[in-house]
Amino acid sequence: MKFSVFDNYDEVSFEAFKILRDAIRTNPTITLGLATGSTPLGLYKLLVDSYEKGELDFSKVTTINLDEYEGLSENHPQSYHHFMNENLFSKINIHPKNIFIPNGLTDECERYHKIINTHPIDIQILGLGENGHIAFNEPDDNFSRVTHRVQLTKSTIHANSRFFTKEEDIPKFAYTMGIGEIMTAKQILLLATGAKKANAVKATLGPVTPQVPSSILQFHPNVKVLVDKEASI
Ligand code: GLP
Repeated sequence: MKFSVFDNYDEVSFEAFKILRDAIRTNPTITLGLATGSTPLGLYKLLVDSYEKGELDFSKVTTINLDEYEGLSENHPQSYHHFMNENLFSKINIHPKNIFIPNGLTDECERYHKIINTHPIDIQILGLGENGHIAFNEPDDNFSRVTHRVQLTKSTIHANSRFFTKEEDIPKFAYTMGIGEIMTAKQILLLATGAKKANAVKATLGPVTPQVPSSILQFHPNVKVLVDKEASI
């Protein structure tokens, strides 16, 4: 695990951007694992800017998203489908057939597992939950292996309440890529910024336990943890 501390959010975003930009240029048919949440927004903006300047071509890129809320349709304004369309996909020349996001309306865990198997992820972007969750893999007694339906914890529901008008509107379940699948990515970039993430960052580097899902990343051979000063310990 390579741990790097940057001055601020913008610098974290720029470092992640440089890694993706160079990787896409080297391998135009790359498969990227993508995350939602506010953390990767700066990275997505830089990717869009770079595309608009004619520096990047996404026409052969494949993307596989980590998760989706159960019960939300693709067009629901709070769905992760909608988030990805708004912040990235509608602004670049990615082909819709190369975009994969779990369907929140049907249990398609097996299908998603097959998709991940047939499109090995070259670089996986991860944000970090305040309780150490990655994707929607919450603290648990075991590390999950494959895509599954998960009950969200109170802490995650509360953290995500900022995106919904009413806390009771937030879905209580989600579909998420499993930890085992995330660990198959060739390279992983874990991004964490802001003081609210400091405890989770510390726990990520502590004892490996399913109670801190992100701690498993210590066993991955190629992980870069990019944090700002506020999130560093
Ligand atoms: C959600 C997502 C995660 C994300 C996390 C942190 O739970 N499922 O993939 O990493 O939020 O979000 P944020 O970056 O907004 O702090």
